[in-house]
Amino acid sequence: MREKINKLREEFNSSILSIKDEKGYESIYFRFLGRKGEIAGLFKKMPEVPQEERASVGSVINEFKKFCEGKLEEAHRNLLREKKEPGKKTCLDVTLPGTLPSLGRRHPITQMVSEIERIFSMMGFTVAHGPEIETDYYNFEALNIPADHPARDEQDSFYLTSSYLLRTHTSPGQIRVMKKTKPPLRVIIPGRCFRRDAVDASHLHTFYQVEGLMVDKEVTFSHLKGILEVFAREIFGPQAAMRFRPDYFPFTEPSAEISISCFPCRGRGCRTCSNTGWLEIGGAGMVHPSVFKVVGYNYEDFSGFAFGLGIDRLIMNRYGINDIRILYENDLRFLRQF
Ligand code: PHE
Repeated sequence: MREKINKLREEFNSSILSIKDEKGYESIYFRFLGRKGEIAGLFKKMPEVPQEERASVGSVINEFKKFCEGKLEEAHRNLLREKKEPGKKTCLDVTLPGTLPSLGRRHPITQMVSEIERIFSMMGFTVAHGPEIETDYYNFEALNIPADHPARDEQDSFYLTSSYLLRTHTSPGQIRVMKKTKPPLRVIIPGRCFRRDAVDASHLHTFYQVEGLMVDKEVTFSHLKGILEVFAREIFGPQAAMRFRPDYFPFTEPSAEISISCFPCRGRGCRTCSNTGWLEIGGAGMVHPSVFKVVGYNYEDFSGFAFGLGIDRLIMNRYGINDIRILYENDLRFLRQF
């Protein structure tokens, strides 16, 4: 049976090449696919095939039938085209526009990081990066947060060993930069941070921050305010307002919590800002003398400010997104909108 099929396949392949007109097409069609044709004949002989081979032989015949149908259809199409446009052998039109490859785009977080880098570099800041796996020393100790300090509770962490953890903020970058650089300096340190937070619409175990640090002679809180206001206006437009309220961080003194006027509702109150008109985007303050001591700076001669902003929060404010998780789900229907 299989031999017979192979022989028929060869015959079919050579006869299909000889088709020149409608008549030739029809005769081959009926010979192979007609009601009394070769393939029907094969099916009729099925009862002669031993039981255990029947299924596999059956599928070989079916596959052959499909093959013949496809080839004949193609031959027929060629005949019709030849009739319409005699002499034209090919249907490839090289003047048609090609198929565009689908282009990717940058993730909204990456876009925001680039924009932040652009704005701060205009104001003389350089960009530095720290490691995502930090030591307890850089993440806490050097920032004036000793082992028993209650400020650690707020930053419940992913520890890898007792002295290594995923950084809970970008502030350890301050220490790393200051240990390597002599003042004066202006630097931002963007990066991914991790905390063992319960996940909800505004908290995720993974998020982005940008740290800012400026140290010079006679740097004051006004410089901090001025620079952050320029930043806010660049990102959110001239009507953007900033709010500083007293706060506490062990590595700055005095410290402030920074909020920005809610962009989607222009501060009138909406779901994004829980009707307050304000969105908390980070913390800031004047660098604490004990931090300067750790890095070997003379705090009599120098002063500085530091801030840490939540990049996800900035994105959420700008686009009126009220669930942080959507930034990390890689849903193309969302990402294509940026
Ligand atoms: N690192 C702080 C946080 O993540 C924010 C901060 C940075 C505060 C710099 C003051 C100065 O909560």
